[in-house]
Amino acid sequence: MIIAVDGPTASGKGTIAKAIAAHFGLPHLDTGLLYRAVGRQVQLNEGDPDNPSDALAATDFPDELLHDPILRSEETGGLASRVSVHPEVRRALFERQRAFAEQPGGAVLDGRDIGTVIAPEAEVKLFVTASVEARAMRRWLEMTGREIDIPLMEIEEDVIRRDERDINRKDAPLKAAPDAYILDTTSLDKDRSIAAAIEAVEKAL
Ligand code: C5P
Repeated sequence: MIIAVDGPTASGKGTIAKAIAAHFGLPHLDTGLLYRAVGRQVQLNEGDPDNPSDALAATDFPDELLHDPILRSEETGGLASRVSVHPEVRRALFERQRAFAEQPGGAVLDGRDIGTVIAPEAEVKLFVTASVEARAMRRWLEMTGREIDIPLMEIEEDVIRRDERDINRKDAPLKAAPDAYILDTTSLDKDRSIAAAIEAVEKAL
């Protein structure tokens, strides 16, 4: 059983995917982390994230990099969104995601193109979304909690910029699969979002 969880930045899809995986006892892959590792590796190589060959070279990142807390930073998120535009980068990361999805017991994957490109045959597809304002506010609260001082407006602009890049890229743009269940979490808190997602999965099975 494959469960695909897609959605824009800060929609809550990561939290939801993790909770679904725990609930159904399935392994979980945050595919955004792979693109973040490529973004970070480009930086370590002193390459240009907008240059396809620099970005492709960075897909050869060491596995330890996936555990580096710097991958969670806003800066690395921005780099990830730039390297993820290149088709050669997406192709290089494809097999790794497929192998995870094809595990015999099933898997939960979250990202942007799981239900459309990586695992279009997934038994369950969720598309988690929320308004720009709600997503920016959540990220701001999370950062303020980590004592990172950044104006809300700046985060909102970053969310909009990332949405634009993810939605408008030619290869595997962010979009809901036609058979995805759309979960709008704008007015739901974390627990209610998770409960709604689990309910949607149970209905789809
Ligand atoms: O989900 P997260 O914010 O960690 O993803 C970082 C960036 O990686 C996204 O903005 C997106 O551009 C890219 N990404 C992607 N396809 C995925 C997962 C992430 O293009 N499956």
